Parts: sequence; C-alpha cells; structure tokens
Amino acid sequence: SLPARVRIHEVGPRDGLQNEGSLVPVEVKAEFITRLAAAGLRTVEATSFVHPKWVPQLADAEELMPRLAGLTERHSGLRLPVLVPNERGLDRALAHRVTDVAVFASATETFARRNLNRSADEAMDMFAPVVRRATEAGVPVRGYLSMCFGDPWEGPVPQAQVIGFGARLLEMGCTELSLGDTIGTATAGQVTALLDGFAAAGVPVDRLAVHFHDTYGQALANTLAALRAGVTVVDASAGGLGGCPYAKSATGNLATEDLVWMLHGLGIETGVDLAALAAASGWMAGQLGRPSPSRAVRALLGP
Ligand code: HMG
Ligand code: MG
Repeated sequence: SLPARVRIHEVGPRDGLQNEGSLVPVEVKAEFITRLAAAGLRTVEATSFVHPKWVPQLADAEELMPRLAGLTERHSGLRLPVLVPNERGLDRALAHRVTDVAVFASATETFARRNLNRSADEAMDMFAPVVRRATEAGVPVRGYLSMCFGDPWEGPVPQAQVIGFGARLLEMGCTELSLGDTIGTATAGQVTALLDGFAAAGVPVDRLAVHFHDTYGQALANTLAALRAGVTVVDASAGGLGGCPYAKSATGNLATEDLVWMLHGLGIETGVDLAALAAASGWMAGQLGRPSPSRAVRALLGP
C-alpha cells in the first residue's frame, strides 16, 4: 500500500546550489527559497554552515539567514534546516536561531575522508556533541548517511555497514535518518532490500527518509519502492539542481517537480502547488543561465 501523504524535504537551495560552478548572489538564493515556500513546500533546506573553503558556494550562510527571518512567520509549519558538520557549524547556526539542523555521515571510509577530512568513525565522534547540544537547545537534528548503495571509489557498499552507521545516528539522537544514494547508482530492488534490512534491525520506518540522486534515471522508481516499504519523507531538489562537490559522478537530485507529478498522480497529498513550483524552478534556471534538467519542469513550462 501507499501513504496518503508524503512530506517533501526540499534540498535545492543546499544540495543543488552547493554544486553550482558560479556563485549565486545571496538575494537570488533568498528569493528562490521564498518562492519554494510560497509553492507550498514546508521543509526547505536553506544552506550549510560548513567550512567556507570546502563549499564556497554556501559561504554566504550568515548573510542568507537574516533574509529568511520573516518566512517562518508567513508560512505556518515552515522549517528551514541547515547542514552543520561540527560544533563550530552548530554555533554559527544557533546564532541565527535555525529551526532544524542536519549532520552528514558517510557509510564509506573514502567518502568520509574526502567530505569530512576524517575517518567514518571520527566523523561520528564529531557529530555526537553536535546532536546533543542541538537537542538540548530544542533544535531537532536530521542525520544524513551518504553512499548507502554504491561508492565511486569503493564500489557496492555492504548493507550491514550502512545499517550500522544509520542505527548509530539514530541512537545518537537524530530524529530522522536520510538514506543517501549520493551517486545515483541504486536500483529499486536494492532500495527494497536496504529498507527490509533496517526493518529487520528494528528501525521504525517512520524515522527514515530517502535521498536519491538521478544520475542513472532511477530516482523515481527508487522512490516508489521506498513508498511501498512505508517511507513517507522524500528528499528532492527543485528543478533537479544539484550534486555533491566531493563525490565523483554525483549529478542532480531527484527533481521535486518529477516527484510531485508522480505523487499527485498516485493520489498522494504533498501540499505543493506544482505550477508555482515549476515556475520557481524556471525562474531559477533563468538566473543560472541554463534550462532545468527536470522533465516535468520542461513539460510544464514548455520550450
Ligand atoms: P577540517 O579542515 O578537518 O576542519 O574540515 P578542522 O576541524 O580541522 O578545523 C580547521 C579550521 O576550519 C579551523 O579554523 C576551524 O575553526 C575551521 P582555524 O582554527 O584553523 O582558523 N572550521 C570551520 N569554519 C567555519 N565553519 C565550520 C568550520 N569547521 C571548522 N563549520 C570540515 C572539516 C567538516 C569542517 C570540512 O571537511 C567541511 O566543511 N566539510 C563539508 C563538506 C560538505 O559540505 N559537503 C557537502 C555536503 S554532504 C552532501 O552533499 C551529501 C548529502 O546531500 C547526502 C547524499 O547525497 O548522500 C547530505
Ligand atoms: Mg545529496
């Protein structure tokens, strides 16, 4: 059976824009997020408080947050999570009274080294005080886990390794675990198998979200497999923006418009106004100077 409602965790302004070749002006980012919220999205990941040299595209987080200050009052229930890798990032985020934060772990050693400059275990040690202090401050923490299926350097990732790190993030106090197919190589059978594995390990499916990149065009099929397994939180990026600067061969996320088209077609509620959303992505594509890779955006907006 399928859920009646899905919560879309919009990652375009963060996962999408972190991978842009050119720097997007902060006013454009604020306008993009404002349009996404107006289109009915209620979880919009705004930016990252990471090292500015590691992700220069998001080095303006301090300038962006004040520009979003009125949004959560205008739209009730709106959450604007931000990524924080460590306590320094958390301090920066808390100074802006963020609604939610996310830490981001890796299921593989190579990606932990490349993305976080330490081993996968050392990264978990780095996150523990972040999760504890954010929770004490009343700020819920999402845990991302990258490379849950394939890793560009290590190949297929053993399921036990993924479940082990995922369970640790939840035990640490993360309220939600987002399973990342960072490079988009997963196919639907693998998604079903991993979710079965988490269920067998005693992890309630309502703690899980899925995060698919669409490199091989599998993201929607993988999402449907996850919905059938009981997942109701799906990450997507408006217009299909995105990738990860530290993961070789990662392209854009599942496009939010493609996702909404499928969900609404299945009679699943999202709260999103698809026409307004596609218009926001079309506007952003104009700002970036190239067409959106989303099939639904192209179909809805025309040539
Ligand atoms: P490091 O160099 O090991 O950091 O980087 P460090 O702890 O050794 O500190 C070195 C210096 O950096 C210090 O300054 C710190 O204060 C400063 P100094 O004392 O030398 O003057 N520093 C910071 N400054 C500002 N903000 C901070 C911060 N932290 C340290 N937060 C670090 C380690 C984790 C910081 C670095 O590796 C980093 O920033 N990585 C972020 C990489 C990233 O953002 N990747 C993309 C997001 S993950 C993703 O996209 C995947 C996902 O979408 C899911 C999926 O698809 O799988 C989520
Ligand atoms: Mg991602």
